[in-house]
Amino acid sequence: MSIAVYPGTFDPITLGHLNIVERGLNVFDTIVIACIKGELHKKTLFSFDERMQMLKSTFGKHKRVEIDSFDGLLVHYLKRKKVTTILRGIRTVEDFEYEYQMTLANRMLEVNVETVFMLTEGNFGHLSSSLIKEIAALGGDVSKMVPANVQKQLIQKLRDQRNA
Ligand code: COA
Repeated sequence: MSIAVYPGTFDPITLGHLNIVERGLNVFDTIVIACIKGELHKKTLFSFDERMQMLKSTFGKHKRVEIDSFDGLLVHYLKRKKVTTILRGIRTVEDFEYEYQMTLANRMLEVNVETVFMLTEGNFGHLSSSLIKEIAALGGDVSKMVPANVQKQLIQKLRDQRNA
């Protein structure tokens, strides 16, 4: 059975991420979505529990999608999980630079790990979680950018923040 780990911060998950997972399922039997726990990498709007809950409600009980989390180095998580393939989406040339560094660093750390890339499809190529959060904060419509459940939570979160 072929398995790939799709790691990220998912703050929050977008339709761009969803597109990569759906297409990844045409290539792999199972995709493990691995949400990074800590905030070391970047400051998040949503807590770890909220990001996990949104991932779970987006994928429901999809038979071939597992929602998991990790802390620390990705290669250590892969080893514990006994998975050697990472799935990543590439949107732009800038992503390529970043992914290039990460892929080679991961391979220096763990020679058996391979990264498979998918080009993010047309409409989603310009999306990022930060951009979506900014649009939502300024009252823009993000319904074509995030799943409906995430849109609801994003609006609520921003409302709570304003009222805090
Ligand atoms: N469609 C739309 N947006 C996408 C996307 C897609 N297909 N793919 C990525 N993005 C966006 C994300 O929303 C995110 O936007 P943001 O920066 O505005 O929040 C941005 O692109 C990058 O996010 P993502 O691809 O999810 O990666 P990440 O930077 O959140 O996560 C880790 C990177 C967690 C995989 C990486 O840092 C890691 O492995 N960390 C563990 C520690 C480690 O092992 N370090 C050594 C690595 S060599």
